[in-house]
Amino acid sequence: PLKLTSVKALAESPGLSSIPSLYTFPKHTNDEVFSDIEESIPTLDFSLLTSANTDERSKAVQELGKACQDWGFFMVTNHGVPESLMKAIIEASGEFFELTEEEKRGFEGKNVLDPIRYGTSFNASVDKILCWRDYLKIFQHPQFHSPNKPPVFREIAAEYSKKVRQVAREILRGVSESLGLEDDYIDKTLNLEQGLQVLAANLYPPCPQPELTMGFPAHSDHGLLTLLIQNQIGGLQVQHKGKWVSIDPIPNSFLANIGDHVEILSNGKYKSVLHRAVVNNRDVRISIAMPHGPALDAVVSPAPKLVEDERNPPAYRAMKYKDYLEVQQSNMPNGKSCLESG
Ligand code: SIN
Ligand code: FE2
Repeated sequence: PLKLTSVKALAESPGLSSIPSLYTFPKHTNDEVFSDIEESIPTLDFSLLTSANTDERSKAVQELGKACQDWGFFMVTNHGVPESLMKAIIEASGEFFELTEEEKRGFEGKNVLDPIRYGTSFNASVDKILCWRDYLKIFQHPQFHSPNKPPVFREIAAEYSKKVRQVAREILRGVSESLGLEDDYIDKTLNLEQGLQVLAANLYPPCPQPELTMGFPAHSDHGLLTLLIQNQIGGLQVQHKGKWVSIDPIPNSFLANIGDHVEILSNGKYKSVLHRAVVNNRDVRISIAMPHGPALDAVVSPAPKLVEDERNPPAYRAMKYKDYLEVQQSNMPNGKSCLESG
């Protein structure tokens, strides 16, 4: 098979002043970007969501529902995941990308559902344009996997994933409740005890012509809820009211977003929102996205309670999560085409 170089190796090639044409995207830069819109992205204070005070909790649930409806994205503060652990997983991921090309290739999967998959772009052997991105995707749950290099990776990933999964599950209880369902509706119906959790580490090296390429093109996330952190370098943009909004990293918080399977379950009341990552010419950006999904064999469909009114018929057909994932992960994302073709 074709041996593809990582973007990291390409970016580090001496004297690189322009990007190979394979990395050139149709001009996406014409899209307007508003970083200083008046509204700012909502914040969920996780400690209020888990408060023993029922008034506090129901207020937090209400705000969560509003954030899901208005933005589909929100920051999560006071989540209890130690800052040192968040830093450690970013560092360990950085160390992974520092391995030799040959060592990293040892982790290239063959199949999109392989539990450990290192690569560049998306599926670089079929992508027509390549993205300015290297990645490592590892399944963390229901079975835990880890590359054996760098040696610190396994322990840090195990600890980080366990803590983040608890936060995600708790937020999903709130999401469930905010939809007028039992708070354990999502957990039980989609068997979150066996739910899929993926650690997706993204490396975006500095790029000499950042405006010509893309780190991660516009897409929505599979699954229910993604929790993202980054090394304090911006690059993520979220679509809001038809405009691209740059999201500035808030230290020590998670950026959360609703995935396609909450859109399906809520029958479109909560939309999974388009987002993308642009690159820059100065700093290495690392992000760690953790999508949390149903169990792989769970079938997702609109919650019966949300479609009982004849004015609100089911807008999505029932689909097994694993089948969806296989299609979604096979090609470079193209907006929400995967959800819409479903
Ligand atoms: C993603 O959408 O999964 C990654 C975006 C980012 O790197 O911020
Ligand atoms: Fe994403």
